[in-house]
Formats: sequence, structure tokens, C-alpha cells
Amino acid sequence: MAPEGREGRVRPSPRLAIGALPAYRPGRSAIQANRDHKLTDSIKLASNENPYPPVPAVAEAVSQAIGSANRYRDHRAVDLREAIAGWTGVDADRVTVGAGSVALMYQLAVAYLDPGDEVVTPWISFEAYPIMAQIMAAALVRVPLADHAFDLDAVADSVSERTKMVALATPNNPTGTALSTGQIRRLLARVPDDVVVLVDEAYREFADPALGDPVADLLGDHANVIVTRTFSKAYSLAGARVGYAIADPEIIAAVDHCLFPFNVNGLGQAAALAALGALDETQDRVAGLVVERDRVAAALRDRGWAPPDSQANFVFLPAGDRADDVYAGLERKGVVTRPFTGWGIRVTTGTPAENDRFLAALDEVAPEPPG
Ligand SMILES: Cc1ncc(COP(=O)(O)O)c(C=O)c1O
Repeated sequence: MAPEGREGRVRPSPRLAIGALPAYRPGRSAIQANRDHKLTDSIKLASNENPYPPVPAVAEAVSQAIGSANRYRDHRAVDLREAIAGWTGVDADRVTVGAGSVALMYQLAVAYLDPGDEVVTPWISFEAYPIMAQIMAAALVRVPLADHAFDLDAVADSVSERTKMVALATPNNPTGTALSTGQIRRLLARVPDDVVVLVDEAYREFADPALGDPVADLLGDHANVIVTRTFSKAYSLAGARVGYAIADPEIIAAVDHCLFPFNVNGLGQAAALAALGALDETQDRVAGLVVERDRVAAALRDRGWAPPDSQANFVFLPAGDRADDVYAGLERKGVVTRPFTGWGIRVTTGTPAENDRFLAALDEVAPEPPG
């Protein structure tokens, strides 16, 4: 017999907040497109991945590390933290690492958000933010973009008594627009010191260095700022899941309290360390991708589209109401992009041949941009 008060409960129920969570929608794969459209040569420009495999030194380090994968690796990944600290010019107690920067954002949410708290973010932005907030039963306050860019005055105006966090993706996903550290500094002046400000720089390496470095420019004066970065994009390591965060040691300690044991696996640690030893090669690739991104954006403008100025490894096609149709047409031609219903399409920068294929497909699917 069920103990008193539990009658009628036939199965475990997840927390209410979990039932209400939006699902994270990953980009579709080339294999799915091949299968659905009976194609053999689909390409994926859907998840802002680097089109090139990891540099040879990384592949070598990972194949060595697999030999000792029977052992747990360092839970805190101390070698990697120290290497990142030396590279970025901060003390090691200001650095933590996670299974992708997204894991660090979830840890940050677990550490700081209580039910009913608010997380303010410009919107449209990274689709993990609603999950990050809502998983803790916090509310995401979405502040509309102005002309595809962040309206920081409106962000500041949206900060209330209940605000616990502000999340800023710069460059922003999916629009590619970016903030300078001067703009962030002006926002910080209007945000209370007990609000955590997440500066999510997943695409930092593709951005104009003149925008500044939030770590060097902001952390000294602002103990409430946490900067997250990743090896997923510029360093071709999306599948290895290694991200890092830099912040005041108190924030780092709180994020570390929520670290699952051995979350950054040994192969990922080896890969990231090796990537730090091959920065020149990465830099050359990034420079090539930036040239390609700008070539695609210019080709779109020649065709009458108005993509926002992207500082990331993708461009955004403001297709508005036609986003889903244009997306579907491109996929039927074997070019998998990422639709944002009612907004537009995000197109990852691929190899020159992949980018040409996208432009050729677009010419067939949508020869005229939306009026
Ligand atoms: C803005 C933004 N932040 C973070 C991430 C997650 O990156 P990671 O692979 O480090 O979890 C992404 C991935 O698409 C992103 O677009």
C-alpha cells in the first residue's frame, strides 16, 4: 500500500520545469538529408562547425591518449587550466574547463539560479539559453534585437529586482553581430554588481580584434563577469567537447562545485592541450574562413540580400517568413543549413567549394530575396 499522500501516483514525475523545457534542436546532418532526399553528396552547413579536421598534432595526441583511456583522467584538468591561464594571461584560479562551453553555462545556471529568478538576454540568440534558465525554473527575459544587433539600452532597461543573470553572445548566434568591450563596459555600468554577466565568446577567433578582449578589458574591474570560450569552432574540436571559462575566482569556484566528475574526458584534455601547441596552424585556417565568410556575405549582397555584418563563422540570411521554405529548398538540393522560423537562415562557412555550392543552390531556390 502506498504511504499516505502518495496514493494514485503511478510513476516518477520529473520536476514541472523539466516538462516545460524546450528541446535543444541540433542542426540536421548530411546523412539525414541524403536519406530524405535520395541524395549521395549532401553537405552540412548547419552547426557552425569548422569544415577542416583537427590539425595533425591534435590527432596524434588523441591517438596517444586513447592508450590510457582505461584510467580516469584528472577531474579538474589542471594541466589544461594552467595552459589556458598562461595563454590568456590570467591566474589559474580564474580558469575552469567544461565539456564544451555549453556545459559550463549549465553549471553556471545550477550555481546561481533559483526558481523565479530572471535571465535577461537579447533575442534571437543561442538556443541553449532558454534551456539553461528554465532547467532551474528561472525565466528567460527576451529583449528584441534592433536591426539584427543587440540593443544594450533595452537590455539594461529589462534588468529588474529578479534578474540574476544577463547572457550576451558576442558574436551572436545566429546573427553574427558582435559587441565591442566598450559597449559591454557601458552596459555593465547599468547592471547591479550582484548580477552575473555571461559573455559567451564561442566565435571569438573569427571576430575583428579591434572589438577588444573582454578578459583583458573587463575582468579586472568587474567581478560579476564570466567569459566563456570554446575549442569547438576555431580549433576544429566540436566533437571533443572542451570549453573554458574565465572569471573572478569566486565565480570559478561556484562553477567548479557543479562540475560532474571527470566531465572533460582525457581525450578532450589531450586534444585541447595539443591545439594550444599548434596555434599558428589554427590561425591560418581561421583567417581563411574569415575570407570565405566575407566572400559569401558579399555574394549575398550582390544578389540583393541584406545579411547583418557577421563576425563569426557563419552568415545570416534574413529570409523572414520565407525562412522555412528557402531552408527546405536548399536541403532538397543537398545543402543543409539552419532555419529560424520567421527570422531567417544561418549558413555556416564551409570550404570554398561548399560555399559555392550553397550560393548555386540559393540561386535556384530563391533567385529573388524577400521584398
Ligand atoms: C553562442 C554559442 N555559445 C556556445 C556554443 C556551444 O559551444 P560548445 O561546443 O563549446 O558547447 C555555441 C554552439 O553552437 C554557440 O553558438
